[in-house]
Amino acid sequence: MHTEPQILLKDVSFTYEEDASPALSHASVTIRPGEFVAVLGHNGSGKSTLAKLINALYQPTEGNVIVCGYDTKEEKLVWEIRRRAGMIFQNPDNQIVATIVKEDVAFGLENLGVPTEEMLPRIEQALSAVRMNKYADSAPHTLSGGQKQRVAIAGILAMEPSVIIADEATAMLDPSGRKEVLDTIRMLNRTKGITVVWITHFMEEAALADRILVVTDGAIEADGTPAEIFDRVEKMQQMHLDVPPMTALADALRKDGMPLPAGILTVEDFVQEVEKILCPSKSAT
Ligand SMILES: Nc1ncnc2c1ncn2[C@@H]1O[C@H](COP(=O)(O)OP(=O)(O)O)[C@@H](O)[C@H]1O
Ligand SMILES: [Mg+2]
Repeated sequence: MHTEPQILLKDVSFTYEEDASPALSHASVTIRPGEFVAVLGHNGSGKSTLAKLINALYQPTEGNVIVCGYDTKEEKLVWEIRRRAGMIFQNPDNQIVATIVKEDVAFGLENLGVPTEEMLPRIEQALSAVRMNKYADSAPHTLSGGQKQRVAIAGILAMEPSVIIADEATAMLDPSGRKEVLDTIRMLNRTKGITVVWITHFMEEAALADRILVVTDGAIEADGTPAEIFDRVEKMQQMHLDVPPMTALADALRKDGMPLPAGILTVEDFVQEVEKILCPSKSAT
């Protein structure tokens, strides 16, 4: 396995307008192939700016962004970068351009100039990977929000990307749609080794990542595993961020004297640790 960084931000600053304060300021991050990195931060902290810098929609005002070995400052490489690092946005309706699902997935391939005979199998594979092949001939407006996001993911997959950047891709979905889209992305990360940058404000989604970046006022304030990040409950609250409900509950009980360990993120973690305290004989077997 090669461990060249897949995304590299070297002291990156970005300012939208001359006199405005930077939306991103001296950010340095290395993301390796196959990592699933969640990005947390309150509104206006700079998350979308970070995503657009990685996708070469913006170029840094200072510093360099290197994606799959390409510097986003080189304008002739922009399409090379975008086909390797595809982006999904919040609103599923704004990303669908065609009136039939398979034509929508074909759109990116047409832009890349992929020959027609090669397009069909790639579209089929991409739709199968997100389990939307049954809907290849459907009209996108008949689909649920979660299904539309999966079609958007198929459109990126057809281009055989190394990276998927999702900017609050589940924010407009109902709980089942959110689960469907997150499960799809996690499966692609595990089975195809696609690197994922997952911007979210759902703590329970971030808890499933390999690593979390916390962005505050344009700076990367914290970078660590979910357990490392969420164990700093008070620090997170100072940054006006929530922690997963089970982490907060464990923290409150720990303050009341219950000997719960750090690193509790999910209901399963919580049950396991409480059982160790309440029924030690059971957990010993
Ligand atoms: N197109 C824009 N023009 C000017 N300022 C912008 C623009 N987009 C975002 N900003 C500003 O940049 C900062 C970071 O915004 P953004 O990256 O969208 O944050 P987030 O995605 O975390 O909510 C905010 O202060 C926001 O007001
Ligand atoms: Mg945003």
